[in-house]
Amino acid sequence: MSHELVIKRAQVVCPGSISNCDIGISAGRITTLGENLEGREIIDAEGLIAMPGGIDSHVHIAQPSGPGIEMADDFASATRAAACGGNTTVMPFCLPEEGQTLRAAVSEYMSNAEGRCLTDVSFHLIVKSADPVTLGQDLPALIAQGMTSFKVFMTYQGLRLTDAEILQVMDVARDQGALTMVHAENEDAIEFLRDKAERSGNTAPVYHARTRPVPVEREATHRATTLAEIAGVPLMIVHVSNGAALDEIRRARARGVRVLAETCPQYITLTADDLDRAGFEGAKWVCSPPPRDNCEQANIWAGIEGGAFDVFSSDHCPFRFADSSGKDAPGARASFRNIPNGIPGIETRLPILFSEGVVKGRISLGTFAALTATNHARIYGLENKGAIAVGKDADIVLWDPSRTSPITQERLHHGADYTPWEGFEVTGWPVRTILRGQTVMRDGAPLGQPTGLHVARGKPEAAP
Ligand code: URP
Ligand code: ZN
Ligand code: ZN
Repeated sequence: MSHELVIKRAQVVCPGSISNCDIGISAGRITTLGENLEGREIIDAEGLIAMPGGIDSHVHIAQPSGPGIEMADDFASATRAAACGGNTTVMPFCLPEEGQTLRAAVSEYMSNAEGRCLTDVSFHLIVKSADPVTLGQDLPALIAQGMTSFKVFMTYQGLRLTDAEILQVMDVARDQGALTMVHAENEDAIEFLRDKAERSGNTAPVYHARTRPVPVEREATHRATTLAEIAGVPLMIVHVSNGAALDEIRRARARGVRVLAETCPQYITLTADDLDRAGFEGAKWVCSPPPRDNCEQANIWAGIEGGAFDVFSSDHCPFRFADSSGKDAPGARASFRNIPNGIPGIETRLPILFSEGVVKGRISLGTFAALTATNHARIYGLENKGAIAVGKDADIVLWDPSRTSPITQERLHHGADYTPWEGFEVTGWPVRTILRGQTVMRDGAPLGQPTGLHVARGKPEAAP
């Protein structure tokens, strides 16, 4: 049998095994894994590693961010950067604007994305109001359409839900078979510390980190897992930044609560000292939860190496630095409170974990594939994605494990005007990204037309 495309001589990372088989692809799917396959087009991948295309299940793209504030990426630039960083699917959040229904927000996001994406896209929802229309109509309808996961916030004015509201939302997740994701930070505690810092004149960017200390996240993580226990639902704690929060997750798991956990590159490579750089520079690293210290980095690594984390995502949330619609927003230099939260990272997530994790011998290739693709697909119900296996979409990324170069803004493709990892040395780069059989990145440059599709999802694996 001849294939449309055959990838030859790569080291192929499949679930549970690594071999040097050929990968046969036709009609956008992996049809054969074997020897001496024939194809109309051949990619000679000698010396390269074939991995499942990255799935980044935590990104923010063109999300409303307050009056006068704009995210640095639209769907074209975010997915171009994603593809160049070895990803084939990204999962952004749909956040309704003030007064907009969740269903109207989804329609708007869909039309913003349509025809512009270089990777596939699958939306999560953000539930910022537990009103009867959202809970009784919009959520059930959207879950039925394949948006089977949603995020709730315990922080941010205007977004946070009360415990009672979180329980109501979890109850819908239980009835409708969806997965709740939680941003766990205690807003009242942050507000108390923020007010105190401002009253003392402590307004520089580093006070963003100092007013969101570890106990703020630890307490909220404990509360979120307890609410899930009470509601009888599984949950995903996103962007876990420290060992104490991870211990709360471990304790909840020991009680029998199904808690999934996510961490991100910022928590293994950055620290709060980055926010303490001279002048306003530290604003580049303002994100929530904030990066911690070397000791917490070690705790997060221990969690990754020990299997405590299910997924490794970017939490890409890009704002331009030298821009009054970005980090330099009105009032941002007067107080850290006004600095838009979030950092760009959609293109650097995979190279950072490959270099720091695989190349430095902390995790295996199999664990890398699981943390960056396979587990995301399984957990969020992306049935055709996340693995090099017969029948799956031919979403494949070829890695050159020995290519060494630093991360620089110059070589990235996002809409932000900086990277938090400027100069960070990386060994191992994706050199070709293949989406459903079509090459969308080659040698670091985007390629071809934006053929990315919206992917409806099935029931998340952990959903009731
Ligand atoms: O600072 C961050 N992480 N901004 C993005 C929104 C969120 O909380 O994930
Ligand atoms: Zn969050
Ligand atoms: Zn986020």
